[in-house]
Amino acid sequence: VWFMRQAGRSLPEYRAKRAAADVLEAVRDPELACELTLQPVRRYGVDGAIVFSDIVAPLAAIGLGVRVVPGRGPVLDAPFRTRADLARLRPIEPAVDMPWLGTAIRAVAEELASSDVAVIGFAGGPFTLASYLVEGGPSRDHVHTKTLMRTEPELFDELLGRLAALALASLRAQVEAGASVVQLFDSWVGALHPADYERHVLPHVRAVFDGLAGLGVPRIHFGVATGELLGLMAEAGADVVGVDWRVPLDVARHRVRRYVADRPLALQGNLDPSVCLAPFEVVEREALDVLRRGGGRGHVFNLGHGVLPETDPDTLKRLVALVRERSPAILAACASERAHPPEPEAR
Ligand code: CP3
Repeated sequence: VWFMRQAGRSLPEYRAKRAAADVLEAVRDPELACELTLQPVRRYGVDGAIVFSDIVAPLAAIGLGVRVVPGRGPVLDAPFRTRADLARLRPIEPAVDMPWLGTAIRAVAEELASSDVAVIGFAGGPFTLASYLVEGGPSRDHVHTKTLMRTEPELFDELLGRLAALALASLRAQVEAGASVVQLFDSWVGALHPADYERHVLPHVRAVFDGLAGLGVPRIHFGVATGELLGLMAEAGADVVGVDWRVPLDVARHRVRRYVADRPLALQGNLDPSVCLAPFEVVEREALDVLRRGGGRGHVFNLGHGVLPETDPDTLKRLVALVRERSPAILAACASERAHPPEPEAR
């Protein structure tokens, strides 16, 4: 159990440490990044420490003008629209362009060496990064990005190829520094029709996961509103597919199994983050439903998207305790159901 976007925002100790600097400045301070990575581990007792960085940090590291505007998100000085813009997207050399990330991860890994807590490295998925670049900022409909995809498919292909290479280089460097799990956040890819995903995005995502295959770390693939893409996302090669809260996990399991039946595939998710603002008996009821639908084995408990800033840290702490306390019984019940499946009529 861990939470996407667990570092920061809802934690008073985070706000105390991070009063002034822009988030992209904060990530360049390895000591601060290490501390912010560990805060939620101490406070919530989660099984994973997601490194304090941002999906646009590598874009800033190669010199693209990008700022993160509070309450809005990443904004580009000059959006990416033409072939000439490709020149601005040079390959990244993590050790030279963002040495602070490796330093922060080594510090986190050292702090957690004697524990079972995983160090989770991450990168932005190619479509999601392309959307920030092409739109120039956060977007609801991704219309410039989709138009580029359809009117200049070769340029779009090259753009996504470069962004996939950026993600792969960054993730490999994070694993070398001590990350024991990696997650690719293709947060906004749910905006695409499955046929467009399959043709224009999936090959690039597959290149990222293939490039990580020999490293021996579990690879997680997550996007929002990806109900219709889950099978294709599984096919792209991850070991774990993250599911947002819109699809019950047992339904998600069927969808991914139709595409990937020949290897183990875990699911991650998927409590609606807004449930955490309800009274705890509601949180408990919904979380137990997630655990049961998750089926015990091959399920990483998480929210269906990031922690909302309004969340009471105590709720997340109680939620972690609940998941720990109830998981063994749910694991046992699910295992026994697998061993003695009910008669088909009774299902
Ligand atoms: O789990 C963690 O909190 C680890 C650190 C982390 C950050 N960003 C730090 C951050 C992670 C994992 C991310 C990923 C990220 N960043 C994603 C993928 C996850 C998702 O939400 O789908 C995306 C899309 C981004 C881009 C981005 N950066 C957005 C949309 C925002 C929010 C802007 C706002 O204020 O609402 C950011 C800023 C950001 N990145 C913050 C943090 C802690 C908040 C701003 C701050 O603290 O100054």
